[in-house]
Amino acid sequence: MRSFDLQAVRRARFSYIISASTLVTLFVIFHLNYFVVENDIVNAVASTPSFFPERLELSLNPTPPVELVVASTSQQNTSWYSKFFPDWGSNIFTVDDQFSPLKIPRNKGHEAMVYLTYIIDRYESLPENILFLHAERFQWHNDNPNYDGVLLLRNFQFPYLQQEGYVNLRCVWTLGCPAAIHPLKDELVEGKVNKQAMGAVFRQAFQELLPEHQVPPDVGVSCCAQFAVTRDTIRRRPRDDYLRFREWLIKTPFPDELSGRFFEHSWHIIFGKEPVHCPSAQDCYCKLYGMCNLQDCTVRGCNSYYVLPPYSTLPKDWPRIGWEGEERPYNDIAPP
Ligand SMILES: *[C@@H]1O[C@H](CO)[C@@H](O)[C@H](O)[C@H]1NC(C)=O
Repeated sequence: MRSFDLQAVRRARFSYIISASTLVTLFVIFHLNYFVVENDIVNAVASTPSFFPERLELSLNPTPPVELVVASTSQQNTSWYSKFFPDWGSNIFTVDDQFSPLKIPRNKGHEAMVYLTYIIDRYESLPENILFLHAERFQWHNDNPNYDGVLLLRNFQFPYLQQEGYVNLRCVWTLGCPAAIHPLKDELVEGKVNKQAMGAVFRQAFQELLPEHQVPPDVGVSCCAQFAVTRDTIRRRPRDDYLRFREWLIKTPFPDELSGRFFEHSWHIIFGKEPVHCPSAQDCYCKLYGMCNLQDCTVRGCNSYYVLPPYSTLPKDWPRIGWEGEERPYNDIAPP
């Protein structure tokens, strides 16, 4: 599907070449066509007179090569991904279903096992843009007024991802920023799964898995382990690194809350960002989602856009019915 536009462009280009008057032109343009990168072809066609207007339109907005990697359980509903984004490959891992077409070696470590398994299995055939996601469309941590995953993906600015290499899908700082973990200060409290424990676990895991880095004093990234990376960023590490990370996840005695959370707070470091990665939320909304006119903003967030919900489980008929059972003004988004 996604290579279709490009082929149309190439055909249009090719027909144009045929009508060119000299063999030299033909020769030169053929070679340009062959070597020029995708965007340049699109630009070149867009800036020539419209010999083939209907094809020109197609070529202006090529679908970027995108795949979605989704960690799901059999209780969750992922059908919205293919409904709203039929042109993007969705890799849905149903972690508790032994018949899931995409398999993980062991159901452990929450979404980290899924994300690592995708990277390991697809290291040689990755698309240019990969989004790592949770299953449900409406989730409290999705960064918009309805907590709607469709908006995150529909407004997503791929050129910005290409420029950054890694982006967290959440702009607001609430939970995770400016720092959530202090690996050198927080001590393990025996048997307790809490913030203190997380500091010590983080230090231990970090030393073991990322020995090329110093253990950072503060770690900050906006929460919830939904992010996007480019193929180039993933390949900046050898496949063996991801295999090593997954081996650790399979073998670690730490409970999933801790081992999974280690990765939640480390993906940005794994993918080359500073340990405290908290870009201005206002800037993030603008660059990542094209929303540059939100009101009531600080670096930490825009009060007009995201408010932390009172509970992490949304009301049953959300987004039509709110927290007090009240009807909410809501028009569903039409699929393409
Ligand atoms: C899953 O969600 C879709 C809407 O995206 C809905 O039509 C469908 O009924 C849901 N399936 C289940 C099993 O709830």
